[in-house]
Amino acid sequence: MSKQPTTRAISVLDIQRMRERGKPITMVTAYDYPAAKAVDEAGIPIILVGDSLGMTVLGYDSTLPVTLEDMIHHGKAVVRGAKRAHVVIDLPFGTYQLGWQQALESATRLMKETECGSVKLEGGQRSAEAVARMVEAGIPVMGHIGLTPQSVNALGGWRVQGKTPREAVRLIADAKALAEAGAYAIVLELVPTALAHMITQRVSVPTIGIGSGPFTSGQVQVFHDILSIQQDREMKHARQFADVGTTTVNGLRAYREAVEDGSFPTAAESSYMDERALELIRLMTPSDEDDMSHAERVLREAHSEAPAARVDQPLEQHVEQQVAD
Ligand code: KIV
Repeated sequence: MSKQPTTRAISVLDIQRMRERGKPITMVTAYDYPAAKAVDEAGIPIILVGDSLGMTVLGYDSTLPVTLEDMIHHGKAVVRGAKRAHVVIDLPFGTYQLGWQQALESATRLMKETECGSVKLEGGQRSAEAVARMVEAGIPVMGHIGLTPQSVNALGGWRVQGKTPREAVRLIADAKALAEAGAYAIVLELVPTALAHMITQRVSVPTIGIGSGPFTSGQVQVFHDILSIQQDREMKHARQFADVGTTTVNGLRAYREAVEDGSFPTAAESSYMDERALELIRLMTPSDEDDMSHAERVLREAHSEAPAARVDQPLEQHVEQQVAD
């Protein structure tokens, strides 16, 4: 009999119910197994495997070089770590812009190979047909409008979108087109607070803001920004809830210092070897150059905590066991 999961994953319907109940929705990015486990443990309901991984973990200057294979690789690790959170994965640049067939093909690979809960893509009216076709095929889709990082070159940089009436009207139409196409939620990135509020009131699906003020149905942030993991990434809209970057550097510095001053590893952090085994090895491989005094001291310290050889055990067997351990 196959093992049933003990925790039910959050579905897109649960996310929509959160909006209906007025419960603010939290979403955060994660790109690997330990981060996904931590997000789950913190009770955050949605994990975005964002193509921001291009910048946060792959070291690119933008999201443009990220491939579908990159997303699948990281997506699989995140899905393995998330038992409860809903995992949504970004369709990266160049994997859906050719039309709905390409979008459907890419999204199908993401869903099939990672077993994520849904996919996200950028663009409003221009992506609506692709959204509709994917939804029709049973793939839940999250939209993303406002500052769409894959279009950063066309938008003239990382700047707030929708400040002029013309741009604002277009963004409202974009949001409506995505909702009508069946998107279950829409990310609003770098949209002025009042406009984000207006869009939230005018669409029937949750809006999840980043740098778009407090009046959206939820918030999304980049893991590395809110934990200050990458100290050269400073975002106005990202509060630093922890300083993991400094803690990490301090921890690594302490490790290097301990290696350099000889205080790491101690006997308790090492494995021991039976003295008789050591003697046997000496006999088997004689050398004039071995200075084992330090090793012997470590061995003696460890030996005091270690199980002794059974008296009825042949020496060779004991030696082999110790070498294998
Ligand atoms: O890739 C990403 O991290 C995103 C968020 C900024 C919404 O799309």
